Amino acid sequence: MNKWFRSNYIPCRPLGDNLSLVTGCQRHIQLSRRAAAEGAVLLKNEHSLLPLAKGARLAVFGKAQIDYIQVGGGSGIVYPAYTRNIYQGLQMKKGQVEVFHELSLYYEEYFKRHDVDYKNYVRYPEAPVPQDLLQRARDFTDTAVIVIHRHSGEGADHQDSSTFYLYEEEQAMVDAVTANFPKIVVLLNVGAMIDTSWFANNDAISAAILLWQGGMEGGLAAADMLMGDAYPSGRLVDTCARTFEDYPSSADFHESRDYAKYTEDIYVGYRYFETVPGKKDCVVYPFGYGLSYTTFGLSDIVAGAIGENIVVSVKVTNTGSVSGKEVVQVYYSAPAGLLGKPARELCGFAKTKNLDPGESQTLLISFPVRDMASFDDTGVVAKSCFVLEKGTYSIFVGTNVRNAQKLDYVYHLEDNVIAEQLHSYCAPERLDKVMTADGTYRAIPCQKAERTVFPCTYRCVEAPEETYTLLDVAEGKVDLDAFIAQMTDEELIEIVGGQAPTGVASTGGMGNLKRLGVPNVMTVDGPAGVRLKPHTGVKTTAFPIASCLAASWNPELLEEVGRAGALEAKENNLCIWLTPGLNIHRSPLCGRNFEYYSEDPFISGKMAAAMVRGIQSQKIAATPKHFACNNKETNRIHSDSIVSERALREIYLKGFEICVKEARPKIIMTSYNVVNGIQASENAEMLKGILRQEWGYEGMVTSDWNTEGEHTKEMQASNDIKMPYGRPENLTESFRSGRITREELCECAKRILEMILWLD
Ligand code: BGC
Repeated sequence: MNKWFRSNYIPCRPLGDNLSLVTGCQRHIQLSRRAAAEGAVLLKNEHSLLPLAKGARLAVFGKAQIDYIQVGGGSGIVYPAYTRNIYQGLQMKKGQVEVFHELSLYYEEYFKRHDVDYKNYVRYPEAPVPQDLLQRARDFTDTAVIVIHRHSGEGADHQDSSTFYLYEEEQAMVDAVTANFPKIVVLLNVGAMIDTSWFANNDAISAAILLWQGGMEGGLAAADMLMGDAYPSGRLVDTCARTFEDYPSSADFHESRDYAKYTEDIYVGYRYFETVPGKKDCVVYPFGYGLSYTTFGLSDIVAGAIGENIVVSVKVTNTGSVSGKEVVQVYYSAPAGLLGKPARELCGFAKTKNLDPGESQTLLISFPVRDMASFDDTGVVAKSCFVLEKGTYSIFVGTNVRNAQKLDYVYHLEDNVIAEQLHSYCAPERLDKVMTADGTYRAIPCQKAERTVFPCTYRCVEAPEETYTLLDVAEGKVDLDAFIAQMTDEELIEIVGGQAPTGVASTGGMGNLKRLGVPNVMTVDGPAGVRLKPHTGVKTTAFPIASCLAASWNPELLEEVGRAGALEAKENNLCIWLTPGLNIHRSPLCGRNFEYYSEDPFISGKMAAAMVRGIQSQKIAATPKHFACNNKETNRIHSDSIVSERALREIYLKGFEICVKEARPKIIMTSYNVVNGIQASENAEMLKGILRQEWGYEGMVTSDWNTEGEHTKEMQASNDIKMPYGRPENLTESFRSGRITREELCECAKRILEMILWLD
């Protein structure tokens, strides 16, 4: 096939065997179902209530059994051919389970009456349970399932903690069910952390599964788990705290529309709960936690340093009576030193294959010693360095952050070691205090930061005499700089802005310079599947949300999902998948948590890298986003994320760093927000200094859609393209007045063209 034929001619050319479509195909739908089950976390299972016995009779309570939420709102929406809800999922288990239909039909009617529109989602209350219906349900069975859901979306945070807790009507339903049924299972269809103490501390509730928002087959995956057709092996990627106030960001999340002060510093999620005295008691379910239908034993744990790495070997044995998978997690604890350190930090993990009862597998987990270094932003040891402070580094192995056992093996350093000398970039000017390991705050100097200027290094060359097309560059007939030399200033200005969408795309394209044969390559949204609007007539596969995928702790699974989604993009002649989302679950209130992986940057980075590998294996450009600190939606275009350099490096940039270094994404998307006083898309220190110079990133950078940043400043910061369209008038004016040079435009254009050249 000719290069770029999909972009140039938009053919209907299926990618499956015998010219069948892969978009929304059975294989992808089954993958979605498998992923939904693998990411679900079994939180409680007293008296081994689950899996339910064959022939079980169930009364299912809650509107969420009908109104199953497969994904949150905004650009993360996916439009599949159908979404299977929990009631429908259970009905597919005919012969295995009998559902009390009258009750489920009552909720179905209730849902229909409310005509819910998730585009403009307005919460509608849980249905009251009529006493006579409750009684008939109880006469039918002694086993009840309660389903609770939560919706959130792009551009809108939860305004207060009410969404974290059960609403009054939900509490009434729970009270009625617990007063009448001896066996109760709770299912949570949510996109982010919510209160779990209401069932964790209630003996009347025996079992609970965190289903997340599991994509189009989420309801069937739930039924699979309830009936033991799938074994739970998901593990938490966030800490479940006792109250909303227990999360350290809670006090000031909504302090201002104009800023968010990250005063908890690096003590985010379990780093806070496991470290700060007294905070362990605030945890209901710790990070990494999750049960199985079987039990596992860890034995023969051996650890040691091999070269620059620490290697841990663990034997995992299935000691129970059904199959299952276990996740082994390795944490370290660095010496407190002068910087202060979290009590535990995740540095490695591995998941077993499916182990039958009695079966064992030895897992090898290895991580570089350098990963245990901390960023010294204030210079107490060595300014702007990642340092390994002298002392003893302990290693912990277990199946969650809390039960991880300290190994006899320790790594010891007699002297401080500078792991990497970096720079002081993106220093905060308005942060006066940050948390320390004992939970108190330390004042930090608030001063005006000198911002580094990065000179443009692009050198223009002579234009060739005859005209060459981009295909000539692809075929090696001319080099890219000579090709760029042929471009007029107007063409350069045009190409650093987004282009009109074609075909089924709605988010715009890049390139589109017909005179020189540059195709218009289309973008499409993610991360839970390829987002094609319903009017295109194309139904794609809705995969589980990012948090659910991450909770599988299975990078191979993410690679598979990435590959499948990329194939769907490609089949529809789309080249750039605006996926994955790599922001951090800093607060349960963030409306977009469902698009992001975790409170922990290590697992976030590993999962994103897997996703990017899968996507790019199909020659579709992945686009990790939103770089960086877009952990809040309220006033996201103007809100300033005020954060210390240390937290930036160790928490908010870390996931991106892992992803960039391991998987080399072709594109990075900057975020809407301001980072320490400078728009992310104009932030040269973050983009040129950290991303490009320090991490060696060679790909292109796109803005988020319609950012506030000025196009000229964005180019100069190496935010190579402004999407979904540029501001040619701004660039033309700057060019005329000498504020921006041809070299600067060429440098950005070159990276866009390199990305296009890489595409099929
Ligand atoms: C979102 C991005 C998305 C883009 C294109 C923006 O509003 O923040 O995540 O990729 O729109 O739809």
